[in-house]
Amino acid sequence: MLSVTGLDIHYGKIHAVRNATFRVGHSEIVSIVGANGAGKSTIMWTLAGVLKPTSGEILFDGKPLPGKPHEIVRNGLALVPERRRLFADLTVHENLVMGAYLRRDAAIAEDLERNFSLFPILKQRLKQYAGTLSGGEQQMLAIARAMMSAPRMILFDEPSLGLAPIVVDTLMETIRQLRASGMTILLVEQNAGRALEISDRAYVLEVGQITKEGPGKDLLEDPEVRRAYLGELA
Ligand SMILES: Nc1ncnc2c1ncn2[C@@H]1O[C@H](COP(=O)(O)OP(=O)(O)OP(=O)(O)O)[C@@H](O)[C@H]1O
Ligand SMILES: [Mg+2]
Repeated sequence: MLSVTGLDIHYGKIHAVRNATFRVGHSEIVSIVGANGAGKSTIMWTLAGVLKPTSGEILFDGKPLPGKPHEIVRNGLALVPERRRLFADLTVHENLVMGAYLRRDAAIAEDLERNFSLFPILKQRLKQYAGTLSGGEQQMLAIARAMMSAPRMILFDEPSLGLAPIVVDTLMETIRQLRASGMTILLVEQNAGRALEISDRAYVLEVGQITKEGPGKDLLEDPEVRRAYLGELA
């Protein structure tokens, strides 16, 4: 569904991502794990159309990804950004409506209800300002807002950041549920263990370069990955 080949991304002279090649198949959960500054968010913002790559090819459904962020959202690719980036001074309901702002179809109300069945707490909090939700609730709202654009694929940037382990359990279960309903998912995480557990396939990104790839379970058992990302002693 998403096929990225030879992607290079620069910030001025800084070569943040080097020759990255990866793909995500229909209804797969694929993760990119890597440490602080590896280039994970840089890749995500590029897929969302906010950053422009210096070179490389990005195909979505076999076609070049459109250039502008709103065209990419309309094509069915939605980002749940790092640190949620909610509209803190808008209510839960208003944030959800913002997620659907590009749509002209009649299924918006239906999708709102579907979100409430996935995240019942949001229905109880409709009039609450997003900035006053708990961290876990904010993450749910960020996911629900992305879902309101009726995506076929969701990009999750570091969704577990700042959440208690038990809340991360719920979050990972939600990502699994989304996939079970046919969604395609690209997940980037520093929290490598949690990401690899739920991933069909995964890539390791080190200072801008993909250095390993394989099934999530295999990388979870890889001694180098365990040493570098799972705090295991040599
Ligand atoms: N706006 C920017 N201008 C210049 N350099 C940047 C900019 N944003 C990111 N970088 C650099 O690009 C590299 C990759 O950053 P990026 O945010 O993609 O990493 P990351 O893997 O998402 O890290 P984290 O896990 O901490 O979120 C880092 O060296 C960072 O300092
Ligand atoms: Mg990041």
